[in-house]
Amino acid sequence: MSDAIRYEILGDIAVLTAQNPPVNALGIDMRKGLLAGIERAEADGAKAVLIYGEGRTYFAGADIREFGKPMVDPGLPDLCGRIEASKLIVVSAMHGTALGGGLEVALSSHYRIAVPSAKMGLPEVNLGILPGAGGTQRLPRVAGTEAALEMITTGRPIGAAEALDKGIIDRVTEGEPRAIGLAYAQELLDAAAPRRPVCDMPAPKAVDFDARHDALLKKGRGQLSPATALRAVQAACEAVSFDAGILRERELFMELMGSDQRLGMIHAFFSERAVSKLPELKGVSPRLLAEIAVIGGGTMGAGIATAALLSGLKVTLLEMTEEAAAAARGRIEGNLQGAVKRGKISADRYETLTTQALVLATDYNALAQVDLVIEAVFEDMAVKKTVFTQLDAVCKPGGILASNTSYLDINEIAACTKRPEDVIGLHFFSPAHVMKLLEVVVADKTAIDVVATGFALGKMLGKITVRAGVCDGFIGNRILSTYRTCADHMILDGASPYQIDAAMTAFGFAMGPFEVADLAGLDIGWAVRKRLAPTRDPRERVPSFPDKLCEEGHFGQKTGKGYYVYEAGKRGGTPNPEVQGLIDANRTELGITPRDFSDEEITRRYMCAMVNEAALVVGEGIARRPLDVDMTLLFGYGFPRYRGGPLKWADIQGLDGILSDIQAYAKEDDFFWQPAPLLQQLVAEGRTFEDLNRENS
Ligand code: 3HC
Ligand code: NAI
Repeated sequence: MSDAIRYEILGDIAVLTAQNPPVNALGIDMRKGLLAGIERAEADGAKAVLIYGEGRTYFAGADIREFGKPMVDPGLPDLCGRIEASKLIVVSAMHGTALGGGLEVALSSHYRIAVPSAKMGLPEVNLGILPGAGGTQRLPRVAGTEAALEMITTGRPIGAAEALDKGIIDRVTEGEPRAIGLAYAQELLDAAAPRRPVCDMPAPKAVDFDARHDALLKKGRGQLSPATALRAVQAACEAVSFDAGILRERELFMELMGSDQRLGMIHAFFSERAVSKLPELKGVSPRLLAEIAVIGGGTMGAGIATAALLSGLKVTLLEMTEEAAAAARGRIEGNLQGAVKRGKISADRYETLTTQALVLATDYNALAQVDLVIEAVFEDMAVKKTVFTQLDAVCKPGGILASNTSYLDINEIAACTKRPEDVIGLHFFSPAHVMKLLEVVVADKTAIDVVATGFALGKMLGKITVRAGVCDGFIGNRILSTYRTCADHMILDGASPYQIDAAMTAFGFAMGPFEVADLAGLDIGWAVRKRLAPTRDPRERVPSFPDKLCEEGHFGQKTGKGYYVYEAGKRGGTPNPEVQGLIDANRTELGITPRDFSDEEITRRYMCAMVNEAALVVGEGIARRPLDVDMTLLFGYGFPRYRGGPLKWADIQGLDGILSDIQAYAKEDDFFWQPAPLLQQLVAEGRTFEDLNRENS
């Protein structure tokens, strides 16, 4: 018997206890143990079997680490079939998170009980696959087609009460899973309850699967797993038998298991956990964080303050004038009201946060005792230096001084204080209380416990926290500047902003680069271009149409016009007819005869530019590992999760092909298209970005 499953007999009940921390994933030892346990219970003359998990959860699913490796018997589908076919009464008692293959084992049991706090679901679509151990066949039989489709195609887990309501479980009881499971199994035996295999239940009702399929593909921006999972549920409704449905599920499961999207999504799953695990932070205690201050209550300051308040921190927000402070309070209250509306906080909590936890100030002395200050004032080095000089003077020793700058040099900011070791970049993304990414920008003199505090703050705020080094734009904005430049070059040469936006949303981005620019404000890029103009290399191709648009007062959504025109009350915009004139004039001025671009070429160039800059960022140590870039783009820039990130995408495409395309583009513009040394090195050595991830994790 495997160690992963403990076997014991208590009266008529055989108890199979899963003991595979941390999440009782159903790896080979667990599967062997469960199979052996069922067989032994039958041989021992038990009348019922109880399955439950020790530690924090019932099975949280198949062991994802085994994916892509040859399957070792018993496979999970066969195991589930065997559990269901047992002549004994099988009871599962759930706590923690019964997910994926975990819920599938439970559905193969004849009776299910759970503690009230248990959560359950079939999240496989989020890993690029579908429930492959009978979940698509059994769940619709117990919960109905609609409920099953909702759970399977979104992957969203539900609580025990909802599961009871939907007929997925039979009972919810307070207590330990072992105790409530044993009592329930005994009760079933005492009542001579019958076995109740789900496979014997009638097939669920069919719905209009074709229409749902197309809607899912569209909603997922090309993500295949939800739409494919739907086809498996369709088989539950339409196949000639339960077994035929299981076969169809297997076929579709294997199709997704062999897909690039599965590779991308599993890379994302492990990378989002690996990203904040830095070897140098092992054993380093973060500084105390109870009370923070935010300087500047505009878009970012208000969002950061909101996020901090929601996480339980006390926040003092400092603005320049009473009026600006009142406006900042208004923004924060608006954000928090949104949280009340969405049921994230109660009205009472709103009151406490806005009247007790939040303080508005205009005097720096109010900041004397705070543990951390995050500056979010105008993006101007002189203004930032004035603020940091004042902070240095008033803040307590050991108080951390952070900047939310998008591009500016944190070393230069740190140098204007007498405590550069306490200075760090904390780069949030707009809206800061919603976006999941936080770049922790480590300057030359930043103390290690200050870095640890940055990561601790990220965790408190529920962010995906990435370490970045100092350079213009850090990881994300630096890469963004490059792929945006590539897009501008393609426009000069003949593409249109709308074709590029369409090509990149078809690739899976949430928005195209020009929609993003309109949303963020065109003045931001304009300011960056003006700042960089004096040091610009003469070989750089610099388009003028983006500046002309700004000179005419068009800053995007906030002014109602940018690359698109926005009408009040309407979602999204329509192409701005003035833009083409500006582009034409720019081409004439540069003597360019425009040519046609296919969507395929647009995507390839755009992605090659992104990958090349990302390889520079990793090569220079601005990002530690390729996965840090991938997570930055996924959580801050709308990169499609199912592609894993730009460097995972590059690995899947093949690095040699990307390098040779870059070399070919360099024949037209050898300044912009300079192959990154790291990319050249990996190709020469036949290695991948994934190899670097493995070596540095
Ligand atoms: N397989 C292998 N490892 C897993 C795992 C799994 N299914 N689930 C979690 N882990 C690992 C994590 O990678 C992490 O490892 P680390 O400590 O080395 O980084 C560790 O377990 C703890 O996980 P978390 O840090 O995520 O812990 P949380 O408490 O925050 O979350 C959880 C727990 C909700 C279970 C979360 O880990 C989770 O969502 N896991 C994935 C669940 C899932 O997708 N299950 C379906 C699997 S696919 C399947 O079952 C196919 C079947 O249909 C055939
Ligand atoms: P904003 O213009 O909306 O807000 C700036 C606020 O700072 C204003 O309310 C202003 O009154 C206040 N302010 C200016 N000088 C001050 C001073 N000396 N003391 C106190 N308050 C002062 O600007 P936004 O967009 O919030 O940007 C702030 C910072 O965050 C910038 O450095 C920007 O680059 C960065 N950032 C912006 C993002 C965005 O998408 N808007 C994303 C990430 C970072």
